[in-house]
Parts: sequence; C-alpha cells; structure tokens
Amino acid sequence: MENSVIADWEPRYAENFSKENLLLHHRLNETGLFTREALAELIDKCPAQNYNLNTMGYDHENPQWREGIVRGVSGKDVISSIERGRMWLNMRAVESVDIRYKHLLDKLFSEFESNVPGFDSFKTKMGILVSSPLVQVFYHADIPGQSLWQLEGEKRVYVYPAGEPYMSQKSLEGIILGETEEEIPYHSKLDEGATVYELEPGEMVHWPLNCPHRVENMDCLNISVTTEHYTSDIRKSFAVNYANGVLRRVFGMNNLAPSINGPMVYPKAALALVWRKLNLNKSKQVKRMIDFTLDPNADNGIADISAYAK
Ligand SMILES: [Fe+2]
Repeated sequence: MENSVIADWEPRYAENFSKENLLLHHRLNETGLFTREALAELIDKCPAQNYNLNTMGYDHENPQWREGIVRGVSGKDVISSIERGRMWLNMRAVESVDIRYKHLLDKLFSEFESNVPGFDSFKTKMGILVSSPLVQVFYHADIPGQSLWQLEGEKRVYVYPAGEPYMSQKSLEGIILGETEEEIPYHSKLDEGATVYELEPGEMVHWPLNCPHRVENMDCLNISVTTEHYTSDIRKSFAVNYANGVLRRVFGMNNLAPSINGPMVYPKAALALVWRKLNLNKSKQVKRMIDFTLDPNADNGIADISAYAK
C-alpha cells in the first residue's frame, strides 16, 4: 500500500490526539487483508490462545456473556455461521499470527508517530473482530490506548467521557486488577453524555484513554479492527491505578490520587510491579469457562458442550 493509512489527517488533529474523540477515514480495505477470503485464511491458522469466541444475551442487566471455541470448522464456515448467528469472534494480536498484519500495524503506528509530535507508542497490537448482525458489546472500558476501524458492515459506537459518573476510579482499578473483566456498571441515562458514531467501512474512531464505550451492530455482518497501544504516560497510569487498587482493597486506603505526576508515582509503580510479580492478585481474577463450540449446522451456529476452564 503506497498511500498513507489515514486518508484525511490534518495537522490540527495532533494537538488533541488521545485527548478528544477523533473520527478519521482510513484505507485499510485497500490492503486486501480484511476481505472475507483473507480472514477465512487467517481464522484457519489462528491458534486458540489468539482468539475469543463469544455469544451474549440482549440485556445489559443480564449480559449472558459466554465463551466458545472453534473445532474442526473452516474459516469460511466460521464467517458464514457468524453471519447467521449471534456471535463475536475476536482474533487478538494478529500481528503475531501473520507477518503481513505486523507490517501493517507498524506502518500505521509510525504514521501516527510522524503526524503527532511526542507520540511514542509501544506494545502495539491489532485485533480483528468478526461479529453477527445486531449483536452488541456491553458497556466497558479498555486498559491500553484504543482505536476502532470499520471494514465491513455498520455499527453504532457510543463513546463516553472517562471518569465520574461514567466510570468510578474504583471500577477502573478493578479492570486493571483483572477483577471485573472489562465490564462496568451502566445505566441508559449515561447515554446523554455519549458521543455516538454510526461507523461505516473506511471510518475509524480513536478516543482518550479508558473512555467507556459500547457497540451495537446494525443488521449485517461486521468486520472491524481494533488497535491498541501503550505510551509512557499510559504505562504510568496503569501502574498508578494498579497500586491504588491494591492500596484501596488490601490496605483499606481511600482518597487515592490517580495522577501520573507527582512524588507518589514511582513508589506506586514499584508496588504495582512487586504485586504483579508475586502474583498476589491471582485468586481474585475472573476465570473464563468455555461452554459451546461453533456449529455451522445449528440454526444459531452454536452447540453447547460441558463447560471447562480455558
Ligand atoms: Fe473496547
């Protein structure tokens, strides 16, 4: 791909990059890496540890989020089953599965780095989401910097400001400690503060760190890409929130500053590192169970199996 990945970058975007929501147009479809044929091939070689297959209910109060597995089904049949069913396939870190996605990921972040002075990213990752018509991803927040790129189909994306009342400091710490997966309390009243995008192929949205968001697919198969990244500020924020989470939960402390500047940042980073190294948080972390396989012969594409730990 000779062209830049972003089709409509303007220098004025640099100042507020990652500080405000940003809707841009992209050329990822020109790579040929996201056609159904290319993705069927990628699914065929995607190891189990690199994907999550999920199905979910219809209600925020009762998400019924379930985890499944693909066994002995071709990538092509996986996509057509998802098109008929109610599923969500998330291939994670595809840059480690096929070098072509790694090259694209590197190109994309070097483009942002040359466009945004001072933006220096690392631990970049690319995920590919293949999801059924009308499915949703419930209200949640992610730990790294995030962007969502639309390749096929349409989805409605609600992006909420970070912080109260959208997400408490304690909820964010819970996500970072791995206690709550990424889901956080939601009420439809919060939608008043959301920015809503009807994302079409060729569009992408990037939002500030930890902004809660939720997604509703329109009535069509959706193919989307997520990219994630860290910067030194994101890493500091992770360490401070991790340490605050431990201090609040284990030592009963409150009034914990989430600031990534100031004298407490380094002791907190050290605490986070030690706590993680010693695996002291392990017992509280959410454990996932697999309880269905993808079945192209079933109406909804799902066959129940007895649950086992992933
Ligand atoms: Fe997300």
